[in-house]
Amino acid sequence: MTRKPTIAPLLATTLALALAQAAQAQTLDATSTTTGTAATTIDSSSTLQSVSIDPNVAALRQSTNTFSRMFRNLPPFALQSDSVRTAMKQLGAAGGVLDAKDVLTDPIQSITNPAVFSPNNADNPNMTAGVTFFGQFLDHDITLDKNSPLNQNASPSRTINFRTAAFDLDSVYGNGPAGSPELYQTVNGRIKFKLERIPGAEAVSRNGAPRYDLPRKADGTAIVAEGRNDENAILSQFQVAMLRFHNAVTDHLANQPGNAGAKPAALFAAARRYVTWHYQWIVVNEFLPQTIGQDRVNNILANGTRFFNAQDPTNQYVAADGSRNILLPIEFSVAAYRFGHSQVRPSYRLNFGPTGGAPFFAFIFDDNLDPADPDPADLRGAKRAPRRFVDWQTFFNFGDGNFRPNKRIDSHLSTPLMILPGAKAPSPGLPADGLQSLASRNLVRHVNFGLPSGQAIATRMGVTALTPAELPELASYVVDGGVRLDQSTPLWYYILKEAEVKESGLRMGDVGGNIVGEVFVGLLKADSASYLSVRPGWKPTLPSATPGTFKITDLLNFAGAVPPL
Ligand code: HEM
Repeated sequence: MTRKPTIAPLLATTLALALAQAAQAQTLDATSTTTGTAATTIDSSSTLQSVSIDPNVAALRQSTNTFSRMFRNLPPFALQSDSVRTAMKQLGAAGGVLDAKDVLTDPIQSITNPAVFSPNNADNPNMTAGVTFFGQFLDHDITLDKNSPLNQNASPSRTINFRTAAFDLDSVYGNGPAGSPELYQTVNGRIKFKLERIPGAEAVSRNGAPRYDLPRKADGTAIVAEGRNDENAILSQFQVAMLRFHNAVTDHLANQPGNAGAKPAALFAAARRYVTWHYQWIVVNEFLPQTIGQDRVNNILANGTRFFNAQDPTNQYVAADGSRNILLPIEFSVAAYRFGHSQVRPSYRLNFGPTGGAPFFAFIFDDNLDPADPDPADLRGAKRAPRRFVDWQTFFNFGDGNFRPNKRIDSHLSTPLMILPGAKAPSPGLPADGLQSLASRNLVRHVNFGLPSGQAIATRMGVTALTPAELPELASYVVDGGVRLDQSTPLWYYILKEAEVKESGLRMGDVGGNIVGEVFVGLLKADSASYLSVRPGWKPTLPSATPGTFKITDLLNFAGAVPPL
């Protein structure tokens, strides 16, 4: 079953929506108000409703899931020319202004001695290291442009988004048990995700705990709904945790006395709803406040979106089943939400190793390593080996003092991201075309899609724009047509610099924060199945450290993904 996010409809559809929402609310009354050992019954009517729309209105809409524009009347920041593309590649190149110039000699020193090994890449005391990968996981739930050419201009409205622009976990559930049977197995009437144990992991894991991996084909390719979620070992393990979360929720529901004899499909649908709503809760109440600031979140929730209008028909498309769906703005996917690239650390402690043994530290990527190595000394994905598992205590705060901070959001990227592996041998989510700098790739896309400058958007938003004096490193960059980049700055760079200058790199600033916040809240409100649409006052019901709330740490604990150290 593919879930279609639907937009609150016009006129003829109002009644249909009201009925659909009433049905959902009733379903959730039955499924979400009890916790722990109290009975939690499920209702087989919990399949999601699409909202049919007036065919005459539908005829006006486009019928493909592409990208839209948020600021469609603003001009591109510079000419959309090959010359500007070349300038963008240079601006983002290894050794250039965006490169944090980390000293990559020792993955442990990169963490413990940043003053020497990462002097330009400061820690963020407000966020833990795992937030980066939760953010990347969210990216992969809502946006995937896999076709637009690297060195040519492109139109958002002709570029397909291969993910639904909704926090609906299509990256986990695929097309559901019927459409993506390779992801699932039915055990004792419970439809669960397949997982595979990592052979030999017990020997290198604290207390001999068994460890799990995504199912893989013989060549190592993951059998997963979203291949990019196997791009690095941390993200791949987070995908494993989400699969385990669904399986644990399924057991939790099946074990409620009132649910004895529930049909597998009904149990699955209820578990999926639980998983998705608890995940969305984390997005709204933990990730978003950390990333853009609680004040901005509160403002958008209270006053609505100002620049991302989900009701505008040009921001929608109509799917084959008649449901009206939202399009993702290109300013978000190419610029604002790529802010997370600046949060990636050069290296991580992936796990603590065996009891009494050494932890496994490694650089996120090392392009010098042999891509055919079944267990390379970096954290690239698509490899299974005993030590390639995550101890989440490093990545999130479980109250045991083991977590490590994230990097600040600033105008520097960790050096391993300037030389992504993937060119020597295909690797999921990593480009094979030879342009190895992630910064260059992001900036080239700005030219291709004709994105406006950060300054123009700041002015449109009515917020104070960065001045050339705040962008001194760009003073010498003048591109085709005499455009000065310190006056007309590519949006992604602007947003990083804005976070650095205005928020000390602790969170995003006004331009970046408002784009990300409005799109997140806009997507959730436009999704007729989200908790924000169905029941905005809903509170999480699964067990958590603080009842009535739910954090990433609660999710990982409930999933059984945090063996004690
Ligand atoms: C190790 C970490 C990461 C790596 C190696 C990585 C790599 C990449 C690559 C290679 C692309 C495609 C670039 C292009 O050709 O235009 C991309 C796109 C993107 N990344 Fe990342 N990324 C990482 C983390 C993140 C994080 C933490 C976020 C956000 C919080 C993020 C957000 C995005 C977005 C929104 C896109 C555009 C996706 C699309 O529409 O296709 N990434 N990333």
